[in-house]
Amino acid sequence: MRNQRRKIISVIGAGNVGEHVASLTLLKGLGDVRLFDIPRKEGDKIFEPVKGKALDLQQMLAALEVDAKVEGFTVSPDGSSGYEALAGSDIVVITAGFPRRPGMSREDLLDKNIQILKAIVPNIQKYAPNSIVIVVTNPVDTMTYAAYKLLGFPANRVMGMAGILDSARFRTFISYKLGISPKDIHAYVIGGHGDEMVPIISRSNVKGVPLKYLLSEEEIREIVERTKFGGGEIVALMGTSAYYAPAMAVVEMIESILLDAKRIHPCSVYVDKNEFYEVEDICVGIPVLLGKDGWERIFEVPLSREEREQWRKSVESVKRTIELAKRFL
Ligand code: APR
Repeated sequence: MRNQRRKIISVIGAGNVGEHVASLTLLKGLGDVRLFDIPRKEGDKIFEPVKGKALDLQQMLAALEVDAKVEGFTVSPDGSSGYEALAGSDIVVITAGFPRRPGMSREDLLDKNIQILKAIVPNIQKYAPNSIVIVVTNPVDTMTYAAYKLLGFPANRVMGMAGILDSARFRTFISYKLGISPKDIHAYVIGGHGDEMVPIISRSNVKGVPLKYLLSEEEIREIVERTKFGGGEIVALMGTSAYYAPAMAVVEMIESILLDAKRIHPCSVYVDKNEFYEVEDICVGIPVLLGKDGWERIFEVPLSREEREQWRKSVESVKRTIELAKRFL
């Protein structure tokens, strides 16, 4: 094992989501973590929270007796300095950007978050050209599309996190209703990460028993509605967007990739001319196989007629935001 080194997971944006991605990645022993974030100015004082968070996490590992290295790097907001330590990254997670506040849609973030992405991308190209990139920043399907186009990496090495999170919400609400562990609930959500996401009822089951045998149509409708607005429910309560479940969803992706686990998860990926899902030149949530090469293939899930209709609507809605984004690319 002389030549084996620990994997390197870099996280750009060490805010709520980023710091939880870091701590969960470390707790699972997946590798070394490098955090990147901008300085914070208060009056004439300049803080470097990212370095403090990295130290705190490193000390957490000493208490936990986990061997890994955590480092924090302060970068300039325009991306012109501070990114050298991206070198050698196996995975780069992008969470940098603004989260939603009450009353905002994910699309309201587009303009500012694309500018931030544009500052980050040249650094990934320069220092981590072989990395696999996971985009978290919202509106995630469009940001993933922008990242894919700007990076110029093969499509399988760029993906957005959304479907695992939406599916976790869906499973949680089914679990509340049935009083059964989410571990035994197979249910997932595809499509855009927005109000038009598509929970796949026809394939959802509890230990093989179809959901529609266990819940009434009305109960399923309620669960679907709560899932669609699951992110907004948390924004309304906290004044900012969720981070525990989003971070865990990212770590699920990291784990599947680094362990070459070949798990199937809905992720936002670039697809062009896919006949089964009837999409072209878009990033949208589709079940994919995650392994050492990133997302390795698309998994085709038969959809009911109604789901197919919802899928088309969701795709159209993502397409509209992507069209808006094109003027920034
Ligand atoms: N370069 C690097 N980091 C930046 C930059 C930049 N130019 N601009 C902002 N950041 C950092 C912020 O300093 C902050 O620490 O990005 C981090 C974002 O963290 P939060 O504001 O806590 O937001 P968070 O809840 O983590 O959400 C991040 O993920 O789920 C999505 O909608 C959410 O788009 C949002 C993103």
